[in-house]
Amino acid sequence: MRQRLLYIKTFGCQMNERDSEIIEQLLYPSGFIPAAEMSDADLVIINTCSIRAKAEQKVYSLLGQLRQYKLKSPGMLIGVAGCVAQQEGPAIQQRMPHVDMVVGTQQIYQLPEMIRMLDHGVAGPKLAVNLDSSFLVPSFHSYHNKTKNSAPSPALKVFKKFVTIMQGCNNYCSYCVVPYTRGKEISRPMADILDEIKVLLARGISEITLLGQNVNSYGQTNPVADVPVNFANLLQQVSILPGLQRLRFTTSNPKDLSEELMLCFAEIENLCPQFHLPVQSGSDRILKQMNRKYTVADYMNKVQILRNYSPDLALSTDIIVGFPGESDDDFEASMDLLNTVRFHSSFSFKYSDRPGTRSADFDNKVEETVKSERLARFQALQDSISLERNKEYVDRVMEIIVEGSGKNNFLYGRTITNHIVHFPEVRGRKFEHGDVVNVQINLAGQHSLTGKFIGEHKKS
Ligand code: 5AD
Ligand code: SF4
Repeated sequence: MRQRLLYIKTFGCQMNERDSEIIEQLLYPSGFIPAAEMSDADLVIINTCSIRAKAEQKVYSLLGQLRQYKLKSPGMLIGVAGCVAQQEGPAIQQRMPHVDMVVGTQQIYQLPEMIRMLDHGVAGPKLAVNLDSSFLVPSFHSYHNKTKNSAPSPALKVFKKFVTIMQGCNNYCSYCVVPYTRGKEISRPMADILDEIKVLLARGISEITLLGQNVNSYGQTNPVADVPVNFANLLQQVSILPGLQRLRFTTSNPKDLSEELMLCFAEIENLCPQFHLPVQSGSDRILKQMNRKYTVADYMNKVQILRNYSPDLALSTDIIVGFPGESDDDFEASMDLLNTVRFHSSFSFKYSDRPGTRSADFDNKVEETVKSERLARFQALQDSISLERNKEYVDRVMEIIVEGSGKNNFLYGRTITNHIVHFPEVRGRKFEHGDVVNVQINLAGQHSLTGKFIGEHKKS
């Protein structure tokens, strides 16, 4: 079979990263291996995000650039996948006729057939954007490690993987496009998830992140399993699979965070003490407008319980500033919440109108300059808190899984709390991705830590 080069550009969340990985696996049997550069590729897939207008604009500017590449290499195929594909559908090809294929969030599995049709000059639109409420995420295990320029090398060993446990969302937060781009919430059967993870573990994967838009409601809506299960049950079942060193999950809606799930942080040894719990605003009035269905007091109460169960828990959050109607006082309430909880890190965003969402029709839009000023203040406060938090790790010995090498003969890896730690190479000791080592922290930055290798990690 003719070998061709594939370049996938992924925007957005881990769900898209996982989908891109599936696309790569799906196209491997058709002869596609990863290209080092986009301009070299025979096929470019853009896996898109539409969570904010800026993410969508990036897609269109990249598509503009691809038009130039295609003028030079007319045989190049271009596909658009993901949330913008889902939302815009045929409008993408109308606006950008050099796009060969458009596939929605549930339709990536159509890609091999679409490419076959293009190869054979079969007429008809290469568009698949149906969203089906009975769609089941298929299990996907096959994987390979080939790239254009490198044979698989042990130093590039893959040791961590995402596993999708559910798709879609039923929450309809008023600002959010996800229920429209990813459809209704559907949980995968527990047996499928466990089987997929067992295969990964047998291939040497040691870290798994369970993925869903709101994993806390796993099994609660559209349960497809024979036996009713919840997310805490799933975590327990996954955690006992032999060979699993680190278990993580994302993302959680605080309204569905149960006591049983919080207790998992105390009881499950390989569940990493790291939790992303998006709060979105520190003002009850705004939370109500956002349709989040919890109050600041509910949130604080859960943070307290989590910290009782897991005192070292690294907590992160998402915040939107400048939601329609957000007053100075509402924003100050978000700053107060940050000062009280002192998140280890946060992702903060200026509110962005999304087509089809309820808040797009709200009055009292906040001016762009005000949003920018609020965002800068929030991020400056978060940066100073992150630095203070990170300083608490100085002198501590932390377990790192090595995942790459950086500049100046430094390597880096992540702690169980998901902090990135840089450390210098050591003469006479060759590190490989996936090695578990102990590093003593000697320097804290806002976004990472630096330390010194002090020996192999031995499980106690
Ligand atoms: N505008 C700004 N931020 C948004 N998010 C979701 N929708 C919007 C929007 N319309 C943020 C939320 C969510 C994160 C993934 O993106 O904070 O948790
Ligand atoms: Fe969007 Fe809310 Fe669903 Fe998260 S829970 S994906 S913010 S609608």
